[in-house]
Amino acid sequence: MVEISTSVLTVEREKIMQTIYDLEVAKTDYFHIDVMDGKFVTAFTSNIMEEYSGYMKSVSTLPLDVHLMVEDVRKYVDIYLNYEPNIITFHIEAVKDEEEAIELIDYIKSNNCKVGIALNPATDIKKVLDLLDKVHMVLVMTVVPGEGGQPLMEDTLSKISELKKYIDENNLDIDIEADGGIKLDNVQSVKDAGANIIVSGTGIVKQDDFGSVIAAMKD
Ligand code: DX5
Ligand code: ZN
Repeated sequence: MVEISTSVLTVEREKIMQTIYDLEVAKTDYFHIDVMDGKFVTAFTSNIMEEYSGYMKSVSTLPLDVHLMVEDVRKYVDIYLNYEPNIITFHIEAVKDEEEAIELIDYIKSNNCKVGIALNPATDIKKVLDLLDKVHMVLVMTVVPGEGGQPLMEDTLSKISELKKYIDENNLDIDIEADGGIKLDNVQSVKDAGANIIVSGTGIVKQDDFGSVIAAMKD
């Protein structure tokens, strides 16, 4: 059974409180928080994502799944640890070498938070294989990070399968999260490839009935 992490990136401020309640009723498994710094990607979303994270912590017990699309990982880890997330994921492309990645992984874990490592569509899974025994999750981007509502890049699915095969062959116990362009009409291909946590933003929050979409995605 897959889990659903709903991205609130495209939710307007006027609708966020109602959306948080509705997503909880609709049984999303996580709130996916897309943090952009205006450097790693052009957009800057951190202020509004901090605001939304604060609301979530005040009215919901659902776990936060924080996806950092930032260059200065440590700075944003420190900001988002304040919201007691279940997991913080940072990009392998944002660090200079494996040593820095390991330092960040250890730092996040030492704050009682799980850690994920994210890969852009252009990045080979080889870049993260040596880190897999240290993280809880790999986030495979199925679009180029930067904005919600883009179409899924089909050629990223083979990376998910490759990663799934490696994880199984090496008896690793980690999640594969797929993120970007996933909707009810293509979720099956992402599940078939081997992802067990599905991020969906516009595929859920721009629909009328969150509950039926989430139930159908999990089915
Ligand atoms: C892309 C973000 C994704 C994305 C999800 O930069 O990391 O989380 O916005 O939204 P949809 O499902 O609309 O692509
Ligand atoms: Zn994301």
